[in-house]
Amino acid sequence: MIWASGWRLASAVSNAGGLGLIGSGSMYPDVLKEHIRKCRLATARPFGVNLPLLYPDIDKHVQIIIDEAVKIVFTSAGNPKTWTSVLKERGVTVVHVVSSSRFARKAEEAGCDAVVAEGFEAGGHNGREETTSLVLTPAVVNSVKVPVIAAGGIATGRQMLAAMVMGAEGVQLGSRFVASEEASSHIEFKKLVVNAQEGDTILTMKQLTPVRIIKNRFYKEIQTAEWNGATPEELKALLGRARAKKGMFEGSLDEGELEIGQVSALLHDILPAEKIIKNLWSEFEQALANPVKIL
Ligand SMILES: Cc1cc2nc3c(=O)[nH]c(=O)nc-3n(C[C@H](O)[C@H](O)[C@H](O)COP(=O)(O)O)c2cc1C
Repeated sequence: MIWASGWRLASAVSNAGGLGLIGSGSMYPDVLKEHIRKCRLATARPFGVNLPLLYPDIDKHVQIIIDEAVKIVFTSAGNPKTWTSVLKERGVTVVHVVSSSRFARKAEEAGCDAVVAEGFEAGGHNGREETTSLVLTPAVVNSVKVPVIAAGGIATGRQMLAAMVMGAEGVQLGSRFVASEEASSHIEFKKLVVNAQEGDTILTMKQLTPVRIIKNRFYKEIQTAEWNGATPEELKALLGRARAKKGMFEGSLDEGELEIGQVSALLHDILPAEKIIKNLWSEFEQALANPVKIL
């Protein structure tokens, strides 16, 4: 996750038994290299890099991933056709994030080893189709042969079990880890996340790239511009002032873009990544032992 998942969070997740991902989307190539090296020093377990495919310096990022011998890459936001084979030829496992069955099939055709089916509830950039995880997960499971990882709206072990009941083989959590001690997100943003209520987030900027954010002053500016018929260029200019960094990393809660998922309404505490993963497994086991409410 941009402005959240540096080496600290990625290594903490991997050390706790998850697969930590370094979010390269907010990193210059040299910064990515530094994070990969620090992550490797901080964990002996596998970790990966998330690579948004629309990143302007994508070729430099790919080169660093290859040079630094990263073995797992999660690609997103773009067409997996160009880079999947380049990475796979170097022995990298490639997982692509999709928001529809059609994109899942394309990812499978491009040679991806697995897909993340990311539903409408998810924080950050999202699909235009607005398909919720409850519909998307089984739809993608029925559409491809590769393993499916469910994402969007998952923060508890019971939700993880639900995703698996729908055919997912794993889950990807974003928002839950923004509210972790190790996330590089600004503390004021983390506090806002754990105080968020149902209805506090919205999928906006559908003209450009849809993104789920908190409804703050920045969102209202976007909304007003859209109501006034702003062109995509005018919207880009609004965003151009590094609003994501301003909000999520620098803690400017009014002026910044604050990406978070609907599941923020279920989060009440900022926890160490290890505790988050321990809770997930214990909740999962309890849910598995007692999956339905008996009246
Ligand atoms: C602050 C934030 C930044 C994110 N940045 C990225 C990113 O750079 N690349 C990506 O593929 N997904 C990104 N995501 C999406 C997450 O990887 C994950 O799929 C999503 O958060 C799952 O839904 P959830 O928020 O309901 O857990 C981001 C999510 C958040 C909340």
